Amino acid sequence: MDATQLKKLVAQAAMQYVQPNTILGVGTGSTVDCFIDALAESGIQLTGAVSSSIRSEKKLREIGVTIVDLNDVAGLALYVDGADEIDPAFNLVKGGGGALTREKIVADASAKFVCIADESKLVSTLGAFPLPVEVLPMARELVARKLTKLGGTVKLREGFITDNGNVILDVHGLKITDPKAIEAEINHWPGVVTNGLFALRPADVCLIGGQNGVRTL
Ligand code: 5RP
Repeated sequence: MDATQLKKLVAQAAMQYVQPNTILGVGTGSTVDCFIDALAESGIQLTGAVSSSIRSEKKLREIGVTIVDLNDVAGLALYVDGADEIDPAFNLVKGGGGALTREKIVADASAKFVCIADESKLVSTLGAFPLPVEVLPMARELVARKLTKLGGTVKLREGFITDNGNVILDVHGLKITDPKAIEAEINHWPGVVTNGLFALRPADVCLIGGQNGVRTL
């Protein structure tokens, strides 16, 4: 099976968590695109969905799902999203698609976070995938200097503006042995909106697609 088939497989497996007549939290990315396709095929009727990006919002609307403002709900039972890296404690790096801030908000609002990914995303230590940091444009160079001091090589994501009107700095070469500490430290800096570490609120369940099928971790 190639990567696309593995994404479809985990997307299908995630359907078991989706309850009809509920409001679902939906993430962003190519794996989530497969999840939205699987949702359409399942015929499960949702009350609505809170989306983590304009991209997913559009795709959800196309399949007839009502988009709900997070401010209008007290909380969500379930959030389904992909990841760029997953470590053995279910700490994640996310934000390859640039939706990290809204993803972190929706994950935080959800009782259960089900992460769907193919097995190429499993790592022993986070950091091989460049860590995305969403930054207010005026703080770009200030934050870049601090990230460099942390030991990373910083690259501005050229030509990319987030759904929130900010820029992304991708930090290459970090070996993230204490994800909670690094997540908290970077998030304290003025001008940082958030970074792509999901360690303070990691995934609860990971569905991992591999050549032998889907493993539930
Ligand atoms: C988007 C994300 C995605 O979940 C992550 O990039 C994984 O994407 P894909 O499913 O396309 O591999 O964090 O901001």
